[in-house]
Amino acid sequence: MESKEKNKDFFDEIIDSLRSCEEDSPASYVSKEVLLEFYRPSPGQTPVRKAASSGRTVSPCRTNEVKEKRTVEEVRQENTVPAHNIPAAGFAPTENMSMEELQQAVSICSKCPLCRTRTNTVFGDGDIKSRLMFIGEGPGADEDAQGLPFVGKAGELLTKMINAMGFARKEVYIGNIVKCRPPENRTPEDEEIQACLPYIKQQIRLIQPDAIILLGATPLKGLFNITGITRMRGKFLDYNGTPAMPTFHPAYLLRNPSAKAEVWKDLQMVMKILGKELPKKKNQ
Ligand code: URA
Repeated sequence: MESKEKNKDFFDEIIDSLRSCEEDSPASYVSKEVLLEFYRPSPGQTPVRKAASSGRTVSPCRTNEVKEKRTVEEVRQENTVPAHNIPAAGFAPTENMSMEELQQAVSICSKCPLCRTRTNTVFGDGDIKSRLMFIGEGPGADEDAQGLPFVGKAGELLTKMINAMGFARKEVYIGNIVKCRPPENRTPEDEEIQACLPYIKQQIRLIQPDAIILLGATPLKGLFNITGITRMRGKFLDYNGTPAMPTFHPAYLLRNPSAKAEVWKDLQMVMKILGKELPKKKNQ
């Protein structure tokens, strides 16, 4: 028990503080070490935009607002693809394609050499009506085996980051720049990124999130053609009118845990945009 407490991760502590916030009062307690990073304003912090759907009220602790929910049957009906609509391999996605049609296209895609070594395509996962979308690089071994994004060690940490932001994992949408695992988990080549890019662009178009979080250098390069995640993290970019926050990839955080405090600052900026209130310091 003691060692479990000792092994607590930065984000575990934030999640604990959110829990106590829910249970007790709007005031919550985070340890001194975490608080130091937690409440120190970032130099040159980007001004906070008002929540996209205006007039939203925020509860004293945190909100659990999600877009209007549809019934399972409604979602199923919307996503049923007529046989004649199933695209051929290499089909370029169009703005008219539904999420289901897009997923079918990805599942048989052979637009780049990664199709030859994949076990499964990894399309994306989560609420397709989510206000918040995370975009990673591409599947690793676990994801390739399961056909789902972020299910390995980096995925565990991503789930904690999502929870620390006050969301359940199923409330957000998680996708990747490339849908097939690059061999040996190497960074995807430019040609592979270019071949796959239309898929994530159409996913963003369909989901219409209020905010996007770019996990690491590859989504920053793919969607903005910008290099330098260390220089760019913590600064909102504009993706066709949607604020996009570049931050470090969870796999980087596993190797460099001290960077979690920087990432938490980035996540908090996104929380503000979404109207998620931060836990309050005791006696504040
Ligand atoms: N890393 C990513 O960028 N994406 C995944 O799905 C898993 C690990």
